[in-house]
Amino acid sequence: MTLQEFRNQMPITEECIYFQTGTASPTPGEVLEAVDRIMRFQSRYGPANPEMREQLYPQVFEAKSKLASLLNTSSEELAWVTNTTQGMQLIVRGLSWKEGDEVVISSAEHISSRVMWKGLAQRYGMTVTVVPTGETDETFLDALKKQMTARTRLISISHVSTLDGRRLPVTAVSALAREQGIPTLIDGAQAIGQFPVDLREIGCDFYTASGHKWLFGPVGLGFVYVARPQLSEISPYIIPEPEDSADYQRYIRPLSAGARIELGTSSSALPIGLGTAVDLVSTIGLETIEAHTSGLVEQLRTGLEAIDEVEFVTPEPQVVKGSALLSFVLRERDADAIQHIVRTMLERHRIVIKHQQEICGIRLSPACFNTDQEVAVFLRSFQEMMAA
Ligand SMILES: Cc1ncc(COP(=O)(O)O)c(C=O)c1O
Repeated sequence: MTLQEFRNQMPITEECIYFQTGTASPTPGEVLEAVDRIMRFQSRYGPANPEMREQLYPQVFEAKSKLASLLNTSSEELAWVTNTTQGMQLIVRGLSWKEGDEVVISSAEHISSRVMWKGLAQRYGMTVTVVPTGETDETFLDALKKQMTARTRLISISHVSTLDGRRLPVTAVSALAREQGIPTLIDGAQAIGQFPVDLREIGCDFYTASGHKWLFGPVGLGFVYVARPQLSEISPYIIPEPEDSADYQRYIRPLSAGARIELGTSSSALPIGLGTAVDLVSTIGLETIEAHTSGLVEQLRTGLEAIDEVEFVTPEPQVVKGSALLSFVLRERDADAIQHIVRTMLERHRIVIKHQQEICGIRLSPACFNTDQEVAVFLRSFQEMMAA
């Protein structure tokens, strides 16, 4: 599938210029059809109809297998969750904590995990150490090493920073942590679907992401990866251990991430929709997607550089590896002014961008369905507005 064919599946391109895939992507036609087909099928024949289940369960399983092969892992190590926030929470709730334990995180974590860590520290009287990401991967890794102690129970960092799109050296961090016997939890919300991610190569213990950003899945489904050796360690819910299984067949399934993390009745339509989205992304090719979005970001950077007030928060690509997120502040514009600009870009020009509150700036996240022409329109409109 070409990028143009993919774009043709996106009705949003007829409505506006959408540079907000970093928050949530619009749903492509094929994914929408898959979700709709399953919902209608269940409605017509009944979700608890055994014939129905016989047809749907293999499709749900197949969707997980597709995701597993995209990530170079196994289905047994993946569980469906609602989103990254829930994935992080379930992993952290599934581990056991005691007073004095330490967790090391980076200064680039998303607000949803920052509040979780704060809550965990309050609940268990433990310490959460925030390591500045620094200017380069080396400075970050050096700073991280200094914070790893005998009490460190977990290192948790983002794969791609939500604030500025910088990629963090997750493979090197996982290797460092492994040397010390410390597990790693990676927040991949901004990574999966942007570029190839190989979970075996990264070597982390836990990884979680949402399907509704760069994978173009339906809103409301993500996944958690639990590396095989950690499967028996994770227990976010209260269930008996396998030997008590006689009365609890439904809950006590073979040891797998799904058995530990997915409980109760859940959607078949969303996983099957996400499986279709994985097919789309795989058919286009993650390398093609990455090359296209880096081109768009480069074009945006060059255009924005010409505006005096712009100061990039996203580091130079020559210094650290970036992604399809580009963040900047506007000198001397406060939060209200930024909010006004973001709103005006929408109302006057039909361009959707993000007011990134933490940096009091703007974040652009163009995706593979966006075009050079859209970037040019954005730049013209933005320059006009800055000059007004
Ligand atoms: C790095 C990162 N982690 C977590 C999240 C939260 O994602 P969700 O709302 O899908 O749980 C986001 C959302 O933008 C993010 O960028």
